[in-house]
Amino acid sequence: MAEPLLTVEGLKKYYPIEGGVWRKTIGYVKAVDGVSFEVFKGETFGLVGESGCGKSTTGRALMRLIEPTEGRVVFAGQDITALDKRMLRKLRKDIQMIFQDPFASLNPRQTVGQIIEEPMIVHKIGTKAERKKRVRELLEVVGLSSAYADRYPHQFSGGQRQRIGIARALAVDPKLIIADEPISALDVSIQSQVLNLLQDLQEAFGLTFLFIAHDLSAVHHFADRVGVMYLGRLVEVAESDRLYASPKHPYTKALLASVPVPDPDYKSEGEVLQGDVPNPADPPSGCAFHPRCPFATDHCRRVRPELKTVEEEHRVACHLYA
Ligand SMILES: Nc1ncnc2c1ncn2[C@@H]1O[C@H](COP(=O)(O)OP(=O)(O)OP(=O)(O)O)[C@@H](O)[C@H]1O
Ligand SMILES: [Mg+2]
Repeated sequence: MAEPLLTVEGLKKYYPIEGGVWRKTIGYVKAVDGVSFEVFKGETFGLVGESGCGKSTTGRALMRLIEPTEGRVVFAGQDITALDKRMLRKLRKDIQMIFQDPFASLNPRQTVGQIIEEPMIVHKIGTKAERKKRVRELLEVVGLSSAYADRYPHQFSGGQRQRIGIARALAVDPKLIIADEPISALDVSIQSQVLNLLQDLQEAFGLTFLFIAHDLSAVHHFADRVGVMYLGRLVEVAESDRLYASPKHPYTKALLASVPVPDPDYKSEGEVLQGDVPNPADPPSGCAFHPRCPFATDHCRRVRPELKTVEEEHRVACHLYA
C-alpha cells in the first residue's frame, strides 16, 4: 500500500472539569484518550461511533484546531504537533474540513463567491481575477452553476449548501479533507448525491479523506478502512468490507445491529445496544464497553484491552480475541 499521509499516535484530548468556589480542576473529560491510526494517500478512512465518543475532537485535535493534550501527528512527513503558529497556518492549506451543518458553517452575510474565495485570500493564492475565475470553476466542479457566485447561502437548499462548503474546501487544493458527518444533516434523498460527489472528487483530484460518521452503513461503501471509536478510544480498525462482513468487537457488532440495513446479505449477530454511552469524565474500569457488553467477564472489568492485530489488517481491542 502507499505510504501514510497522516499518522496519528497516542492522541489525547482531556478537558479539565472545574469545581468549587476556587474553580480548581477536579477531573477531566477524556474526550480522546489515546487514539492511533494512519491514513494512506488516496484512501478514505472512516471514523465511526455513537454521539460523544470523540470523533469530532479527534478530527479537530489532529489538525490542532484544538490543542491536543498529548500525542504526535505526522502529516506528509511533518510533525504537526511540533509546528509553530506560522508553519501551522501554512499547513492548514493542505488539510481542509467539511462540516456537518451546511446552514451554520457558511457565513450568511457573504456571497457564495466570497465564501469560496476566502481561503484563497487567507493563503494568498492568485490574483483577484484568477480567484474569481477559480470560484466559477469550483462551482461547476461541485455541480452548481457558476452564476450562483453572487447569491447568498440562504437562497440554497441543504444539499446545495454542502456543495458550496465542499467547493470552499477544494479552493486551496488540499491533500487531506476531514469530513465531519458531511451528509448526516441532509435529506436522505440528497445524501447519496453528496456522497457520490465526494467520491468523484476523490478520484479526480487524488484526495485523501478522513470521513467521520455515526454509523457504519454511512461509510461502508465510501471508506477503504474504518476505525470504530468508543469513549475516546479506537476499539476496532479494519478494511471497510471486512469490518462490515465480519465485525469482531461486540461494540461494532452492536453498532451494525442497531441500524436497519436494507441489505439482504447482511446477517446481524450482535445484540442491539443497551443503555447509553458512559460519562467520559468517569469511564468504566477495564474495558470501557464492559457495562454494555453481553460477553463481559471479570477480566474485562479489571483490565483494559489494547488494540491488537488479530488478523491481517484487522485490529481489535477486546479480550475475546486475546
Ligand atoms: N469544549 C469541550 N469541553 C468539555 N467537554 C467537551 C468539549 N468538547 C467536547 N467535549 C466532550 O468530549 C466528548 C467527545 O465529544 P465529540 O464532540 O468529539 O464527540 P463526537 O463523537 O463527535 O459526537 P457527535 O457524534 O455527537 O458529533 C463528549 O463527551 C463531549 O461532551
Ligand atoms: Mg461530532
